[in-house]
Amino acid sequence: MEKVIIDVDTGIDDALAILYAVKSNKLDILGITTVCGNVPIDLVTVNTKKVLKLLDSNIKVYKGASQPLLREPFYEFRVHGDNGIGGTLNDIEVSSEIEDLSAVDFIIEKAKQFKGELSLVTVAPLTNLALAIRKEPKIVEWIKKVVIMGGLVSEAGTGNTLPTSEFNIFADAEAAKIVFHSGIPMTLVSLDVTRKGMLTEKHIEQLKGSPFYEFVRDSTEVFRTFTYENYGENGCALHDPLAVAVLIDEGLVQTKEVYVDVETKSELSYGQTICDFQNLLGKEPNMKICLDVDHETFLHRFIEYLKR
Ligand code: BDR
Ligand code: CA
Repeated sequence: MEKVIIDVDTGIDDALAILYAVKSNKLDILGITTVCGNVPIDLVTVNTKKVLKLLDSNIKVYKGASQPLLREPFYEFRVHGDNGIGGTLNDIEVSSEIEDLSAVDFIIEKAKQFKGELSLVTVAPLTNLALAIRKEPKIVEWIKKVVIMGGLVSEAGTGNTLPTSEFNIFADAEAAKIVFHSGIPMTLVSLDVTRKGMLTEKHIEQLKGSPFYEFVRDSTEVFRTFTYENYGENGCALHDPLAVAVLIDEGLVQTKEVYVDVETKSELSYGQTICDFQNLLGKEPNMKICLDVDHETFLHRFIEYLKR
């Protein structure tokens, strides 16, 4: 089984990504690392532990960066609700103790221990991985690959934080730049594909009988309302679960190798992922981007796994 660390900012769809990863039974999850993103780091860490408790899992959680490399944190309570998980799981108690190792040191330790075997799925701002690369540059040769939920490559103008920019990259574009230029093999699962298959009420009803039915129904309510009010669409995108699904089975997406860079200077387009489709810059491709997704198969698996 693929050895993996999942880097999260839990977050409603992060929670669903953790459910997908665990219930797939297809990953050897070495640990989950947390980072400041949708909500402040302490809340992210507590939320992540609550989701694992809901799963009755003993996967350990490693607390990571409490702020982006250079900028102030930018939170998304509008999408994820006041507690970051749509107001749910208030009755689950978790310990406030944290592991001795930080997220950054945990990533470095596991990359060194499992050279060439460790993959990462990042579904949050890239601060932890950027800090790990800075602290131990050799990890770029040790890490097998990274699947990144982030960015927007072909549907310019339809970002979710700025017109050009997607939240995870916008929240720490300097970190994304370090990761994009690191040389680690990577796949970018961007908004272009994560928005193609929405989780609708109809899908949620298919989860009846699953131990996670109520959690999915209730936690996504605020996210679905936000999506309807802002984009006129019913349902919510499963951004983060799709990144996990692509790590497990890249056949779900159609990919292309290209050169992608991140804008860090402009106020108007900070965090834009700029994809050189025509190779005007003459640079070697640094990642795979996703052009299309078999969302029906993905949604089918999402429902099937969560019913286990
Ligand atoms: C990404 O931003 C966050 O709000 C979600 O959890 C997801 O990782 C989507 O742009
Ligand atoms: Ca996330």
